Amino acid sequence: MVELWSTSMVKKIKENDNDLMDKIVSLCKRRGFIFPGSEIYGGMAGIYDYGPVGAELKRNIKEAWRWEMFRRHEHIYEVDSSILMQRKVWEASGHTSAGFTDPLQECKLCHHRFRADHLAEAGVKQCPDCGGPLTEAKKFNLLVETHLGPVQDESSLTYLRGETTQGIYVNYANVKTATRASLPFGIGQVGKAFRNEITPGHFTYRLREFEQMEQQYFVHPDDAPKYFPYWKKERMRWYLELGINKANLRFRPHEKGELAHYAKAAEDIEYKFPFGWHEIEGIHNRGDWDLSRHSQFSGQDLSETDPKTGKKFYPYVIETSAGADRLALAFLIDAYTEIAGGRTTTTKSIKETEVVLKFDKRIAPFKIAVLPLSKKEQLTTIGQEIAANLRAQWMTDYDETQSIGKRYRRQDEIGTPYCVTVDFESLEDKAVTVRERDTMEQERIKIGELGGYFKEKLNRIK
Ligand code: GAP
Repeated sequence: MVELWSTSMVKKIKENDNDLMDKIVSLCKRRGFIFPGSEIYGGMAGIYDYGPVGAELKRNIKEAWRWEMFRRHEHIYEVDSSILMQRKVWEASGHTSAGFTDPLQECKLCHHRFRADHLAEAGVKQCPDCGGPLTEAKKFNLLVETHLGPVQDESSLTYLRGETTQGIYVNYANVKTATRASLPFGIGQVGKAFRNEITPGHFTYRLREFEQMEQQYFVHPDDAPKYFPYWKKERMRWYLELGINKANLRFRPHEKGELAHYAKAAEDIEYKFPFGWHEIEGIHNRGDWDLSRHSQFSGQDLSETDPKTGKKFYPYVIETSAGADRLALAFLIDAYTEIAGGRTTTTKSIKETEVVLKFDKRIAPFKIAVLPLSKKEQLTTIGQEIAANLRAQWMTDYDETQSIGKRYRRQDEIGTPYCVTVDFESLEDKAVTVRERDTMEQERIKIGELGGYFKEKLNRIK
């Protein structure tokens, strides 16, 4: 499937896609997951904003990743480095040269620009927009340029980081000294990255501003063949534990000619998107490229001494590199479930198709929604008090508008695992009904016992 940034091609692509992406995009807007960036000014290619539930969804994914890296694994340390770094960093890393480019072709008539590899893949030889002749492919650098300071000239030129990884290498020596870490150990971080993608597309799949969750595991070169498969296995386990359907995940090794400028070996974890199998995470053996280059360019020796042989060497890096936005999209698609004919037994909605986002509880934006059966003060007072108590521990929504059937559906559509209903019986028995999202099973729980009940349901770590 090609990704082209032109209306005619987008239309063509859409005709080929099934309509699942349209449904996801519309749900994201309607329910507050994802909005087009600067929408009131007509939007911006490759830029999206996260709404109230989307921001929570993405944060939960990043937190699940941080938990996995910094708490489940030992000897992986976190940094939060700057987006702006010295220009020399990007020269050392190879990003300013041919390594960080995509092939670009431009139409000689309408001057629209396209990814040459995408055109070739689709067998397109002339401009997809006007049919005009195309230029030869040339290398287009993806770094986003900026100027720092009051003078805008060559000397103030720098870049918004093209990957979070480089912020880890520039802090390698500092982290090692501060933590007294010795090989093997890891450094990870979550943060924004920017790429001037020629053809952003497929909603939030290919963006110009996005977030990465990257970890560099530093090892003795002899240990690289052991740790590359180790991290492949660990990362795949993480996706499966968070409930992604196994049939929608696969590994894809990179061909020799496809390897990034720094990589000795690379495999992608791919997800089966409605527009085809595509990368969500890369696992790379970066060899000693980065530490040796930064030693050379900075003049600071980042090598290690082998305790057995006394010889100097640069540690190899096994990198795991995932994108939070791509993962959020994959989690949304994977969780999306349509129930034809509906499952809610209230009269009006009985025949409509219902949508449930079957997120893992850790990923779900809201964990609980409190829904008083009626707007009568007797019930809303209890409902608000329950919500306030639960909110202290878990993201809890409170909703007293519309019919209870519609409110359940609203919560199902944003993937809330539990709904708590306060009814008139609650006034007598001091209990509420808890409804589970996927099974729709209902349990009567004493109000005073709700905290313990949800602790058991939501805080248990697998
Ligand atoms: N440090 C290595 C690196 O950046 P990459 O394969 O270019 O490797 C890693 O990117 C991950 O970052 C991808 O698997 C993807 O999840 C995410 N990513 C890369 N470019 C992206 C883009 N334009 N939009 C959204 N996510 C992107």
